[in-house]
Amino acid sequence: MTYSVNTRILQLDSQQLDAQLIAIASDVIRQGGLVAFPTETVYGLGANALDSEAIKRIYLAKDRPTSDPIIAHIMTIEQLEQLAVNIPDVAYQLAHTLMPGALTFVLKRASHIPDNIATGLDTVAVRMPNHPIAQALIRASGVPIAAPSANTFTRPSATTASHVLEDLNGRVDIILDGGATSIGLESTVVDLTQEPPVILRPGGITVEQLREIIPNVKMSPHYISTEANEAVSASPGQMIKHYSPNAEVLLFSGELDAVIGEMQQCASEFIAQGKRVGVLIADEDFPLFDKHVEVKTLGARDDLETISHNLFASLRILDGLNVDMILVRDFGRSGLGTAVWDRLLRAAEGKVITVG
Ligand code: TXA
Ligand code: MG
Repeated sequence: MTYSVNTRILQLDSQQLDAQLIAIASDVIRQGGLVAFPTETVYGLGANALDSEAIKRIYLAKDRPTSDPIIAHIMTIEQLEQLAVNIPDVAYQLAHTLMPGALTFVLKRASHIPDNIATGLDTVAVRMPNHPIAQALIRASGVPIAAPSANTFTRPSATTASHVLEDLNGRVDIILDGGATSIGLESTVVDLTQEPPVILRPGGITVEQLREIIPNVKMSPHYISTEANEAVSASPGQMIKHYSPNAEVLLFSGELDAVIGEMQQCASEFIAQGKRVGVLIADEDFPLFDKHVEVKTLGARDDLETISHNLFASLRILDGLNVDMILVRDFGRSGLGTAVWDRLLRAAEGKVITVG
């Protein structure tokens, strides 16, 4: 069974919102339908967070396992209290400095919030997006909006409306097209029900930014693990297979020259085996690969914002070129690099080649 509808695409200008189009979309939310909308991180697949039937439709549309809980999106800090109970002070400290933004809190769930948003856990994830279209939709709907990333399960997250259409045509009532998202990676998920708080997923707000407010915040190591462990149940969506294009992805890590050398050699070997090879590299690496590989550059070596912005879209482009293998290099682990590494590691399903 799936959720089957005619999908309508509504074009919106983020600088000058058309209130009529927002009203059409918010009616659909209130009636229990699905609306995909841009946030500053990635596109979300939204439904009324107070309506368990509407939430069920999200799982069906995405082919998402019902063990992977969904984030509720809000407009104001006061709305936290509509969704959660026993909210610790640190939530307000974080909210006042970093919200709206690419940050999601895990809090104790209020009893009237449907179980299936959180797959039966006693918690709820909450985020306040920093995007005019997302904010206008939440405001006009008058309810918090449950929204996972608007991709089908295991595909790279959608950063444009056409990515959403590619995955969800006929499974979402309306797609609000507000252009490409700016950050391009999902929010940072931090569990505030634990003391000290634990980062369950690195994302658009960096670990360094969180440490300024919570110096002892812990980084959950489970996303580095390649096998199921107890940390996986703390954030059930964090299984290693995720963000996967159709091609097989290999991630190369180590000292840069050695990494490039190994990628060149692997590319030649795969080509000799008759395989089509794509590489994902930095702008400066471009001259180092020959014409027999499909090259996508993500941005300048040290420009992690541009690299993040381009990452998911580039994985989709290489997939569209029908490559068999995607070879990608590590972009470091500081700042946004932590989130980039996490997504690449999971796109590669844990297959890391360490060189040097
Ligand atoms: O930037 C984002 O966070 C985007 C935009 C649309 O807001 N949303 C997003 O949602 O990435 P999704 O469903 O693709 O990822 C949500 C993550 C999952 O890893 C899930 O396991 C975790 O948040 N999560 C949600 N609710 C949780 C809860 N109650 N406890 C622990 N983890 C939770
Ligand atoms: Mg997702």
